[in-house]
Amino acid sequence: CGIVGYVGNKDAKEILLQGLEKLEYRGYDSAGIAVVDQDSVQVFKEKGRIAVLRDIVDPAVESTMGIGHTRWATHGAPSKVNSHPHQSSAERFTLVHNGVIENYGKVKKEYLQDVTFVSDTDTEVVVQLIEKFVNEGESVEEAFRHALSVIKGSYAIALVDNQDPDTIYVGKNKSPLLVGVGEGFNVVASDAMAMISQTDKYVELMDEEIVIVTRDSYTIKTLDGQEVSREPYTAELDASDIEKGTYPHYMLKEIDEQPFVMRNIIKHYQNEDGNLKLDDDIRQAMKETDRIYIVACGTSYNAGLVGKQLIENIAKVPVEVHIASEFVYNMPLLSEKPLFIFISQSGETADSRAVLVAVKKLGHKALTITNVPGSTLSREANYTLNLYAGPEIAVASTKAYTAQIAVLAILAVDAARAQGIELDFNPLQELAIVANAIETLTDQKETMERVAQEYLSETRNAFFIGRAVDYFVCLEGSLKLKEISYIQAEGFAGGELKHGTIALIEDGTPVIALSTQEHVDLSIRGNVKEVAARGANTCVISTEATKDEGDRIVLPEVHEYLTPLVSVVPLQLIAYYAALHRDCDVDKPRNLAKSVTVE
Ligand code: G6P
Repeated sequence: CGIVGYVGNKDAKEILLQGLEKLEYRGYDSAGIAVVDQDSVQVFKEKGRIAVLRDIVDPAVESTMGIGHTRWATHGAPSKVNSHPHQSSAERFTLVHNGVIENYGKVKKEYLQDVTFVSDTDTEVVVQLIEKFVNEGESVEEAFRHALSVIKGSYAIALVDNQDPDTIYVGKNKSPLLVGVGEGFNVVASDAMAMISQTDKYVELMDEEIVIVTRDSYTIKTLDGQEVSREPYTAELDASDIEKGTYPHYMLKEIDEQPFVMRNIIKHYQNEDGNLKLDDDIRQAMKETDRIYIVACGTSYNAGLVGKQLIENIAKVPVEVHIASEFVYNMPLLSEKPLFIFISQSGETADSRAVLVAVKKLGHKALTITNVPGSTLSREANYTLNLYAGPEIAVASTKAYTAQIAVLAILAVDAARAQGIELDFNPLQELAIVANAIETLTDQKETMERVAQEYLSETRNAFFIGRAVDYFVCLEGSLKLKEISYIQAEGFAGGELKHGTIALIEDGTPVIALSTQEHVDLSIRGNVKEVAARGANTCVISTEATKDEGDRIVLPEVHEYLTPLVSVVPLQLIAYYAALHRDCDVDKPRNLAKSVTVE
């Protein structure tokens, strides 16, 4: 979910709506705003996208302060009544919330027996609790702090009081929230991108802090009322980076940006002599560790699988890759000197953060690889490596995946050199070759579109097969296709298919095979024959070195360590065109959110 707030002297509703449009990638089941005017509050909310909300907001409403929310449903189905803002029974307080209140049932029973609830959400408990404490004689600030000490779970909250058109109360625990500082106004946002057109100065909040935000002040306090002072930082975001320009979709723009991202990474990880530039502390941590644990979700997890191969092959350090949400239950026996690497585009994923909190408690070191400097995972880890990919807006991740692999390759080489391992692989030079190779592929959109149409326009399912590192790229290719086209797609290790899954192959089942490495080429082509013999409609993607007659796409040659950076590009484009031809909402696929800040 995403939150915005504004208190100043301009038209609040327009600023809130624009902010929500920028946050829509965080959830788009329903949306709402509340604006306060003298001593009344007006709430507009509706199921659906921000565009739907925009249509129902009364243009005549005049207000210079308010809060807004875009929702990715957790408790309670997407509906008008479950959408935020939520109000207390007497409608004095109105609040938006991102996160999950774990003890809401208990709080209801213990404190709010007499209250009639209108929604199914955990959030309503908080606003009712605040009103109850105020009715019992507490000031609004006291009641806010009191309520936040009673609730357990994750939250980013913004609260307004209809008797006070000058103040927004915000609170944070585990879920991200920033206060933006302007001249004569202040804003609140889940991330700086939402309000970057208003201000580039932001104040970070720590867990269990509240902020009292007015037009010209922000006062940070702990839940027990101690004042905390903290200066704003400057968010280095270019507002034009988050525009679509002439592209029909962010996803296509972001796929096309990958060569630029590779060059940007080269620039940032290179010193004046053209050598690798990496933090000494990170080098030291990589040198000292006896085993690396990569923890991530979704596409970042898939990048982690490629990262394992790179680090093990290049730096000779053993690596395990774990899905964040499973790590705590299936915690592996840790080595003596573990180093944790969190890979997260957003740096905000709650599942990954929960593991970071747990391993920090155990006293272990953590490195975050992220696209968002200053994000929660970046702040809370010991070290950060930035992706320099620029804001990624489409829900399906593309340029962050390739950036993650590129940065992992750089990290692996730096770690190898620190151990005195001789290498004939210069990642910066090789990434420059990759950048050109990606460009060659993004210039072949017509071919990719034809493949998508031919293989995927009618089908209900699809398989991606590969061996060795190609298998990991197949996992990512199938995830892209599932996410945006809703075709049931599976990435499979070529050799494993015959042990069960081949039962699903029927006449016309699309099977896309990656064959980018000579040492597995014969074997994967054998698997292609197996499925073709059972009626599959096969499409082989190979390289200059492995190509054969009849292959549909031939990838330009790059260093073998870096083939995933090019082999994923046709899969991204094929998924894009498949979704387009099936009339799916490419940038905002159903049921998903880009940044999932609940566990
Ligand atoms: C969400 C997104 C995925 C993403 C995953 C991890 O589920 O829809 O595209 O891969 O979160 O996100 P992160 O920001 O941690 O990389």
